[in-house]
Amino acid sequence: MKTVLLLGCAWPTELSFFARGLARVGARVLGVDSHPESHLPPDLRESLSGYLQVTSLFDGQAAFDAIRRWAGPVTIDQVETLWEPAVLLAARVREAFGAPGLSYDEALCFRDKDRMKQAVSAAGLRTPRHQRGSSARECAEAAERVGFPICLKPVAGAGSENTFRCDSMAELEAALNKAGRDREYNIEEFIDGEEFTFDTISVEGRVVYESLSWYRPRPLIGRSVEWISPQTVTLREYDAPQFDEGRELGRNVLRALKHQSGFAHMEWYRKSDGEVVFGEIAARPPGAHTVDTMNFASDIDLFTGWAEAIVHGTFDVPFERLYNCAIVFKRASGQGRIRRIEGLERILASFGEHIPCIDLLPIGASRRDWVKTLLSDGYVFVRHPDLETVCEMADRIGTDLQLYAE
Ligand SMILES: Nc1ncnc2c1ncn2[C@@H]1O[C@H](COP(=O)(O)OP(=O)(O)O)[C@@H](O)[C@H]1O
Ligand SMILES: [Mg+2]
Repeated sequence: MKTVLLLGCAWPTELSFFARGLARVGARVLGVDSHPESHLPPDLRESLSGYLQVTSLFDGQAAFDAIRRWAGPVTIDQVETLWEPAVLLAARVREAFGAPGLSYDEALCFRDKDRMKQAVSAAGLRTPRHQRGSSARECAEAAERVGFPICLKPVAGAGSENTFRCDSMAELEAALNKAGRDREYNIEEFIDGEEFTFDTISVEGRVVYESLSWYRPRPLIGRSVEWISPQTVTLREYDAPQFDEGRELGRNVLRALKHQSGFAHMEWYRKSDGEVVFGEIAARPPGAHTVDTMNFASDIDLFTGWAEAIVHGTFDVPFERLYNCAIVFKRASGQGRIRRIEGLERILASFGEHIPCIDLLPIGASRRDWVKTLLSDGYVFVRHPDLETVCEMADRIGTDLQLYAE
């Protein structure tokens, strides 16, 4: 029996499904997270053979020391995480225990956006022109060199946090004032176009599952305009010729960065002239329920499929791409608590059979911070074999379903 040390297993909730997957394929799972053991939901506790509460998974050193002390006497076969902030910590722990997988240096290429792009460009793949800047002056110089319009973003950002398009020095100044002048930034050539993901599960460098999703609209817009209901659409026609170059780029990036086993989540852009450009990549599954859209698109369980791949080196999930599956994130109008939900009955009456799951905040719940979490005030999945149809239904969920807060 293999022993897997799983960093991050309690929150976000979907992490517990990966713990369950590991237990299902026969692994002994040792979980680490920052929640007290008594607060873990019963089904997660059932999946775990041991649990260590650390003060924070964000505090690499303290968590590292605690994990080494706790797991030191045990033979650890694998160290895994599916949660972005713990990717480097997992790599350090992996090295300390001599477990296989990405080393610290290799993992850095999946965390540090600048290093990432250097490694990807070094392999001859198209990345936005880019430069690092750690002061306002350096950012301005970098913008001169890269050329406007530029995209300004924190080197270790996530979820489009403090990410701006700037068309001029004045806009760069304003963006730096908003985002904070004394941080490290990446200044990139702004790539106009559509934005997609390339999500994979690999076994020792061999890709065993691939999926493409389409962001409607691009995250930079969806994450900065509150009335928009952003969508992620997992595509049924992932092998259509218009995605050939995107898939090829994705596979080459995985090779260039020496990705080995488990999930990877890449984002890429397609310009109106058809050119494809690398966006970013992470050594973990996509967040914001994209594993669910991938599952709903084929009626499969990738939580367990992933576990089988990393524990046994096989992926025996028979799957067919049956549907395009969209998730639509909803944001209430108004502040405070949800008071009214309108339009749901009409939507269910007209295409409810294509909606596999709805999870909206209930009446009386406080609104979530839509800037901090893409989940916003809830979401609806919708799926259909035809892409145009699923987009129409997703757009109707965007416009006709409304939550009101007061
Ligand atoms: N060079 C770029 N050109 C155009 N848009 C970009 C560029 N870099 C980032 N963006 C936009 O900003 C969003 C967030 O940037 P990204 O690099 O994906 O970081 P993260 O998702 O970690 O915040 C992207 O999804 C994209 O919409
Ligand atoms: Mg991104």
